[in-house]
Amino acid sequence: MKKRVGIEALAVAVPSRYVDIEDLARARGVDPAKFTSGLGAREMAVTDPGEDTVALAATAAARLIQQQGVDPSRIGMLVVGTETGIDHSKPVASHVQGLLKLPRTMRTFDTQHACYGGTAGLMAATEWIASGAGAGKVAIVICADIARYGLNTAGEPTQGGGAVALLVSEQPDLLALDVGLNGTCTMDVYDFWRPVGRREALVDGHYSINCYLEALSGAYRGWREKALEHGLVRWSGTMPGEQLARIAYHVPFCKMARKAHTQLRLCDLEDAVGPGPGTPEAREEVAKSSASYDAQVATSLGLNSRIGNVYTASLYLALAGLLQREGAQLASQRIGLLSYGSGCMAEFYSGVVGEKAAERMARADLEGVLARRERVSIEEYERLMKLPSDAPEAKAPAPGTFRLSEIRDHKRIYVEGGAA
Ligand code: HMG
Repeated sequence: MKKRVGIEALAVAVPSRYVDIEDLARARGVDPAKFTSGLGAREMAVTDPGEDTVALAATAAARLIQQQGVDPSRIGMLVVGTETGIDHSKPVASHVQGLLKLPRTMRTFDTQHACYGGTAGLMAATEWIASGAGAGKVAIVICADIARYGLNTAGEPTQGGGAVALLVSEQPDLLALDVGLNGTCTMDVYDFWRPVGRREALVDGHYSINCYLEALSGAYRGWREKALEHGLVRWSGTMPGEQLARIAYHVPFCKMARKAHTQLRLCDLEDAVGPGPGTPEAREEVAKSSASYDAQVATSLGLNSRIGNVYTASLYLALAGLLQREGAQLASQRIGLLSYGSGCMAEFYSGVVGEKAAERMARADLEGVLARRERVSIEEYERLMKLPSDAPEAKAPAPGTFRLSEIRDHKRIYVEGGAA
């Protein structure tokens, strides 16, 4: 019998500070409605040099192990998907292994492909378990990033930071993946890049949106072909995409999920056989349906709208937000997920929500995680953004979180806050 493999549980770590997006708009002389309605943002996470990618990744993994009672001796693989690591050679995963004193027998590595890196790690872990090579062990996949475009740039309101740690196993209480049905699409494009040595990403913003939508179309059509073959969806009554209970998208800013959903519906409308909206304009009108967006997508965006872009973790924040709100009613239902990483790579996959999803999500205490943050002024945000990355300010880590405290010679020293 084919193994059931997927996500058993998850935990989220966020920076300790955030700004209100309307404060940022006013400080930049922009109509706040552009950031709230135009981009779909409410709040944006702000990091300081002490909250680097290692600190966020270690905090999320420690939280996962503690909240979900994971036995460390069962972990056989630790992967960190990130595009904002702190060293070109030494992986974030090795820091996490040391800080959490995880088994020396594990396989550890980082995966990088812009925002797609976390999904690359998830698929490596899933297929390792599904193949039997994991021999009953579980994997932890951490998606951790800090999105920085810089002050006064068009990308500024789409920054953020944080980490999501996923427990991957043969007991997929959150989401059993449809292993092998993934659709993938890759293209060599310069939509978003960060040359070696730069802290801030560079982006061709409007072009990057088009790249995302084109890659989504290829990945979704690839998944749909396999899902039709396996009888997961049909060309009858409703469109295949409508037969997924919910769809979680990569969310660089919340409005992007709406654009992505319109594009996915356009793929179905363009490829449908039989009578349908004939002209491209009529198809566009149907694809934009607010009812479909509200029913299939909107409920996943609660965390993204309050944290911002977290690159590799953005899709998994959408999954977390969705299951936090609707875990109970989605039990046994199939959902779709779209991962996108600039450069570029898109992967569409699906899975069935587990019966214990609501119980697992309650343990993740996501409301508590957000409630412990401090709102800061734009002046303070700008001060933090200008601090050099190798000189963390002295600040005690909150209970249960890690911070970079100093760089001694060449070594990064992290400290952990007392018991949570
Ligand atoms: P912009 O040019 O400043 O904004 O930058 P705009 O003029 O396009 O306006 C944005 C929206 O606000 C528009 O809505 C406006 O109409 C609306 P749309 O037409 O798109 O539906 N608007 C208003 N709404 C209400 N009231 C108003 C108002 N004014 C305007 N007064 C942009 C926007 C997203 C390009 C910029 O923020 C940016 O460059 N962000 C970073 C790039 C990005 O997020 N790209 C997304 C796709 S690529 C991706 O997802 C990968 C990524 O995560 C990286 C990785 O893979 O590692 C980025």
